[in-house]
Amino acid sequence: RAGVAPAARTAVPAAPEAQPATTLTIVYGSQTGNAKRLAESLAGQAEAAGLAVRLLRADAYPTRELKNERYLYVVISTQGDGDPPDDARGFVEFISGKRAPALPELKFAVLGLGDSSYPQFCEIGRKLDTRLAELGATRLLDRGDADLDLETVAEPWVTRALTVARETIKSTPRASVTPLRPLAAAPSAPTREAPFAAELLANQRITGRGSDRDIRHLEISLEGSGLHYEPGDALGIWPVNPPALVEAVLHALGFDGEQPVTLGNDSLSLREALLRRRELTRLSRPFLLQHAKRARSDVLDGVLAPEGAALLASLIAEQQLIDLLRTYPASWTADEFVAALRPLTPRLYSIASSQAVVGEEAHLTVAHVEYAVGEELRWGTASNFLARAAEGEHLPVFVEANERFRLPADTSRDVIMIGPGTGVAPFRGFVQHRAETGASGRNWLVFGNPHARTDFLYQIEWQDALKRGQLHRLDLAFSRDGIRAVGHADATPAKTYVQHCLRENGRELFAWLESGAHLYVCGDATRMARDVHATLVDVIAEHGGRDAEAATDYLNDLQSQGRYARDVY
Ligand code: 2AM
Repeated sequence: RAGVAPAARTAVPAAPEAQPATTLTIVYGSQTGNAKRLAESLAGQAEAAGLAVRLLRADAYPTRELKNERYLYVVISTQGDGDPPDDARGFVEFISGKRAPALPELKFAVLGLGDSSYPQFCEIGRKLDTRLAELGATRLLDRGDADLDLETVAEPWVTRALTVARETIKSTPRASVTPLRPLAAAPSAPTREAPFAAELLANQRITGRGSDRDIRHLEISLEGSGLHYEPGDALGIWPVNPPALVEAVLHALGFDGEQPVTLGNDSLSLREALLRRRELTRLSRPFLLQHAKRARSDVLDGVLAPEGAALLASLIAEQQLIDLLRTYPASWTADEFVAALRPLTPRLYSIASSQAVVGEEAHLTVAHVEYAVGEELRWGTASNFLARAAEGEHLPVFVEANERFRLPADTSRDVIMIGPGTGVAPFRGFVQHRAETGASGRNWLVFGNPHARTDFLYQIEWQDALKRGQLHRLDLAFSRDGIRAVGHADATPAKTYVQHCLRENGRELFAWLESGAHLYVCGDATRMARDVHATLVDVIAEHGGRDAEAATDYLNDLQSQGRYARDVY
């Protein structure tokens, strides 16, 4: 995998070395790896151009050095609800906060990444860019707000940033260049750009009859691929759009699927382009704006008006592409239509197995997103692709390392795993791994889902692991049946979420933390992870005899030690 300069996961980095005044520092905060890849590419090119470069993940950036910094580029993404990526929380808080120093000597630029189908698009990049200027720093180039398709904004920004850096910063003698490890991975290993065609070995629904969720357990063969993963890593999948949706889009526009279109250097049929190369579900802002200009509709004219932002956001939230095309017809040529849609991007799924147990396989736990709009179904692109894939089919996959979500190196440490719904996936891998490698620390799993009878994912495996002493505690929050835990006599008939289990077992939770346990949260970011975080603060405050601020510091401290890790989406 691509090498990165010191991205120390743990604690405080080495004593601050004074950076030469001509060093270009590049800091990234990345959730899915895009910001990291762009920052690495920028660093590699700047170094090749003779600049002294220091590349750091945001949580390894020693914020006390900020006041001495001369040249700083920040590449940072925004999470769904306007949050920074977990690895950049401290960095963003420091710069936004009162303790940030005046920065009259700093020259900087920010590239924000995001997803324009969310209202808080690139919010964190925007916030940092504004704040750095407010602190007196000088902008070297305008902020970029980049959507999921990196070609349009992100890559041109990187090119410009490189040019500006070369013009502004005196190149330093070779001797003082901070060496970066080589960027290239082993040439033969499959990558995001050159994925492996992996055979699907099993595709089983693991929610029972009567459940309103269709959750799948998938087993995928990596045999012969050279792909390896650690527990906590993700499998990237390049999906193909549902053929029925492609036909519906062609029909709505009156296009012939066989007509040729051009995408970059490729010439292919429109149908192929829509199946494999373009996003056909969630709308993006640029697409919607272009569509509005082409449609003859008073409603859509509203999004072009100065106060149209709210309407734009609500259309994006409520309509998929096909709904928009039908409600507000517009005239497009096939080439323009394809160019305006976002490129299809791979989706990352936490791997639910350990190679110590399953060898050359990767298992996934996937919730099939499917809902009805009138008579028709709407789908989540990748989950539908996976749910309808047949055993024996081949899927384009790659491994995306998740270095922030790792089992403790010291196997005698305890782990507390909070994973409701499909958030349980990486913890199946964790428990498999710890059992197989004879880790001596204890394992505590907190799981939740609507109903015990139909939604107790991997029930038999957990009960088996409990029996064998490979799982030491299992707490369950079946939100819609009021059952709290296996063997608990006093099942309470109330809606129970995982955070209620945490609160109820607060004393023990705090004792585990005090004895060095590592804490992991996986699953829904906007509601669950937020509520769980707040509950953790409460538990630490109550059982650690601290006020809320000190409890928050305690948790931040765990995070910077790599002992509180989240994989949330
Ligand atoms: P619900 O759907 O009954 O509200 C996995 O999706 C589980 O997470 C479900 O049991 C779901 O409960 C629950 N869940 C929903 N919102 C949550 C929240 N804010 N915190 C924790 N769990 C939540």
